[in-house]
Amino acid sequence: MSQRSVFVDDTVLDINHIPPRLLHREPELRFLNNIFRFIIDTPYEMSQRAVIIGGVGSGKTALAQRFGRDLEEEAKRRRVKAKYIHVNCREVRGSLFMALNRAVRRLRPNFPDRGFSADELLATLMRILDEDDLQLVLGLDEVDALIEKEGGDAIYNLSRVQEERLEGPRRLSIICISKDAEAFQGLDRSTLSTLQRNIIRMSEYTQPQLVDILLSRAEAAYRPGAVSEELIGFMADLAASESGDARYGIDLLLTAGRYADTDYSQEVHPEHVRKAASTLFSVISPGDLRQLSRHELLALLGIARHFRHSTEPHATTGEAELAYQVACEEAGEQPRGHTQYWKYLNRLSALDAVSTKLDTSERGRTQLISLMKIPAESLEQEVTRVLEEG
Ligand SMILES: Nc1ncnc2c1ncn2[C@@H]1O[C@H](COP(=O)(O)OP(=O)(O)OP(=O)(O)O)[C@@H](O)[C@H]1O
Ligand SMILES: [Mg+2]
Repeated sequence: MSQRSVFVDDTVLDINHIPPRLLHREPELRFLNNIFRFIIDTPYEMSQRAVIIGGVGSGKTALAQRFGRDLEEEAKRRRVKAKYIHVNCREVRGSLFMALNRAVRRLRPNFPDRGFSADELLATLMRILDEDDLQLVLGLDEVDALIEKEGGDAIYNLSRVQEERLEGPRRLSIICISKDAEAFQGLDRSTLSTLQRNIIRMSEYTQPQLVDILLSRAEAAYRPGAVSEELIGFMADLAASESGDARYGIDLLLTAGRYADTDYSQEVHPEHVRKAASTLFSVISPGDLRQLSRHELLALLGIARHFRHSTEPHATTGEAELAYQVACEEAGEQPRGHTQYWKYLNRLSALDAVSTKLDTSERGRTQLISLMKIPAESLEQEVTRVLEEG
């Protein structure tokens, strides 16, 4: 990092960073620990299921990951074999096969990524747990994507596989994570009732709680004195008004610092925060953008550029694809074909980065693309920045 930067370590502001301490979530963490205490105290005797529900940026992922790390450390200390594996179901497009594949490959990195059915993978997972004499807690983040794609049976099968082994050690426990409880409505009664016993609901963070969270993160990320407590309070105000979204607060912290660096400023000023707030649309955050592939980003860049110059609120797929091809050319990338472009569009639309609707007017059936709440210019800047980061 250059000497001028306001940051000492901006990786702690990365979305994948797991904070060493979860502030204001001690009761939730304790509850989760208690549910799974048997793993350490009476190994192999039980398996459990738990659910974490809470709004955007309420700390669900952080809670599950922190729990997992703590569990593994405690298990090591007590010489018990236990592991936590976290899989984001949306990242694997809601596919049970891919979610299980990720889990298996965490335990057997060389396991082939095709050639098996989801059922076979589940059997394989159980066999590996037997081989390693391991207890596993599988965290299924954004599980709504999984239930949407595979139906409630997916969760049922995961639960059943353990229950069917009447004899022998218990090995597989599950944590389901979702923004809302509705995701679970499609589940059958018995699966639902076992899940219902262990629900953790995450409330919205209040402004003072957000201050604490942002302060501790700023202390690790920023050069001392580069960001004032008053300014942290200001960012916490903004995050509190985004329904207590800690991720928004942390994105502000990162983006405001980037603007300070751009200005060669030794400290972050309120204007940098305002500027950051104006480019951080609540629809898609830089964190979300970083999850996109290079070509998905180029597709999004094309759309942003198209709308910067267009006076029409909608673009046709043809126009958008053309803009994508131009963006590819500039980036020195070979544009992918039409079918692939469609996939990019679907993913962007699933992530709410763009809106799509079917045009059924006289002109025939085409897909129309629009940017609803995002200024094209801010989007272009954000996407460019993420592309440059590599
Ligand atoms: N209590 C906390 N202490 C410290 N950092 C926190 C806390 N809660 C959340 N964070 C941080 O805020 C950011 C957002 O949290 P997290 O990703 O866990 O939210 P989420 O509930 O999973 O949101 P989403 O539903 O959008 O996935 C992360 O960077 C996380 O590390
Ligand atoms: Mg999350």
